[in-house]
Amino acid sequence: MSKSADLDIATRVARALGAIDEATGALIPPVHTATTYVRGRDYKLPGPWSYSRPDNPTVETAEAVLASIEGGEGALLFASGTAAFTSVFRTLKSGDHVVAPKEMYWALRKWLLEQLQASGVGMDLVDMTDLRAVAAAMRPGQTKVVWIETPANPTWQVTDIAAVADIAHRAGAILGIDSTAATPVLTRPIEHGADIVMHSATKYLNGHSDVLAGALITARRDELWERIDHLRWTNGAILGGFEGWLLLRGLRTLVLRVRQASRSAQAIAEHCLGHPNVSQVLYPGLGNDPGHAIARRQMSGGFGGMLSLRVKGGREAALAVTGRLQLFARATSLGGVESLVEHRATIEGPGSPVPADLLRLSVGIEEVGDLIADLDQALARR
Ligand SMILES: Cc1ncc(COP(=O)(O)O)c(C=O)c1O
Repeated sequence: MSKSADLDIATRVARALGAIDEATGALIPPVHTATTYVRGRDYKLPGPWSYSRPDNPTVETAEAVLASIEGGEGALLFASGTAAFTSVFRTLKSGDHVVAPKEMYWALRKWLLEQLQASGVGMDLVDMTDLRAVAAAMRPGQTKVVWIETPANPTWQVTDIAAVADIAHRAGAILGIDSTAATPVLTRPIEHGADIVMHSATKYLNGHSDVLAGALITARRDELWERIDHLRWTNGAILGGFEGWLLLRGLRTLVLRVRQASRSAQAIAEHCLGHPNVSQVLYPGLGNDPGHAIARRQMSGGFGGMLSLRVKGGREAALAVTGRLQLFARATSLGGVESLVEHRATIEGPGSPVPADLLRLSVGIEEVGDLIADLDQALARR
C-alpha cells in the first residue's frame, strides 16, 4: 500500500487518511465530546489528552487530513476563520510591521486596521498585484508578516504567491495566505513558498453551511507555530468536537464539490460575458481576466466556484436582480453546496470599496443549466 502522501488528495480526503475507530473497528471515527480525561491511580493520564481546550482527538483527526492535503507539517483548527487569522497576528508585538492587501475579505482587513494597529503594530495595505509596491512596503527586520488572499474576495483578484513569498523572505518576513476561495484542491500555497495557510473552514472545507470553523496549516513546526498553538490554548479558540466531526465528514467530498463548483462557475462566467445587462464579469478563469496567467500557474483543475458580476444600471438594478433570482439564495457566506448571491456593498456598509453594482455569486453543485436559466431570467428584466 502506498504511503498516504503518495495518494491523490481526492483519495486522502475520501478516506480521512484511513482513520477508523481502533476500539471498535468502526469505519467512521466517533465524535469525542469529553472536556476532560480521567487519570489513573498513579495520577498519570492514559493518553496525550487532559482537557479539551488545548486539543481534542476528533479535531486532531481533521487537522491531520488538512495538514496532509495542504502539504504542511501541522494544522490547527479554530472556532472560526477569524479566530485562526487573528491567532497569527496576536504573535506580533508593538513595533512590528505587517504588509497586507488592499483587496481582502473586509472583516479581516477591518480587524487589522482597527485592532492590530491599536496594539502598536505598523501596517501597510498594498496592491498585491504590484510587486514593486510590495517590495517598497517592506521594512527589513521590522516586517514580520506579509499577508495575501488569492483569489481575493470579492473581486477575485489574483496574487502571485511565489513572487510575494520571495519578497517576504528576502526581508525576513513570513508569508501567510488566506486560501479560502482556492482550497487545497486547486492551490497548495506551501508548494509556492507560503509559510502559513489559513482557511475559513466555514466555507469549502466543510461545504454544507452548517459549521463555523477556521484552519491554519504550517509549512514548518517552528517556534512561531508553537506560539500560535499556545495562543489557541490560552485564548480558548479551539474548534468544538462536534464541529470537528462534521468538518471531517464534509472534507470527504471536498474534491468532488470544488471541482463541480469550479466547472459551473467557469460556465456561468463565460455565459455572462457579453450579456447585455452585465458590464463586467470578474473571474480568474476567463482568458481576459488580469490575473488569468498567474492563476494558470498556481491553480490546477479549475479557478474556483466564486465569481462576481457587475450589473448595468447600478445599485438598484443589481439589487433588483437578487430579488428575481429563485435558485441563488440571498445570503452571505460562500463555499456551500447551494448557490448564493450577495450584494457585498450592503453587507460591508458605508465606506465599502466594493462597487454598488457588484453581485457576488457562490456557485454550488446544482445542475449548471438550472443556475444559468435562473440568472438569465433575473438579468433579463430591468
Ligand atoms: C475569504 C474569507 N476569509 C475569512 C473569512 C472569515 O471566516 P469566518 O467567518 O469563518 O470567521 C471569510 C468569511 O466570510 C472569508 O470569506
